[in-house]
Amino acid sequence: MPYAVGHVHDCDPFVQEGPMTPHPPTEIPWEQLRRAAQDARSRAYAPYSQHPVGAAALTHTGRIVSGCNVENASYGLTLCAECGLIGELVKTSAAGSRETLIAFACVGPNPGPLLPCGRCRQLLMEHAHPSLLIDTERGPSLLTDLLPFAFGPEDLPHL
Ligand code: THU
Repeated sequence: MPYAVGHVHDCDPFVQEGPMTPHPPTEIPWEQLRRAAQDARSRAYAPYSQHPVGAAALTHTGRIVSGCNVENASYGLTLCAECGLIGELVKTSAAGSRETLIAFACVGPNPGPLLPCGRCRQLLMEHAHPSLLIDTERGPSLLTDLLPFAFGPEDLPHL
């Protein structure tokens, strides 16, 4: 079932703007997302860092996409879990559709949520619904709060 998510604005009954959002939308299945992230983590390829990561996100159409980190002997080539998730999103979206992410959860080897690195916040932003929520230990937080003043497609010259 598609999720009806409006833009973030002062009247949004669920999302409070600010560094943290203490009152998450009740319809987001956070536990299901965390389990999907844990499943993805079990497939991680992290022999160099021993830091397996799994990420999962809910799309506005109600699908869950996920990914795990994939490391490389050439360390700098490591793919974060979010890279796999975005790859799956793009690969499995209906042809011609622009499916956006509305909720995101990530887990590493330590208890509690793992916050996406800076590069991955940028990756997520490109495919985020304007009110994408990120699971944090203090509750759901807007990606726009975690990556303010972000560079985006609108900053590119239109050819
Ligand atoms: N990692 C992710 O998969 N996502 C992040 O947002 C942060 C870091 C991975 C990359 C590397 O394989 C391991 O965690 C240790 O940095």
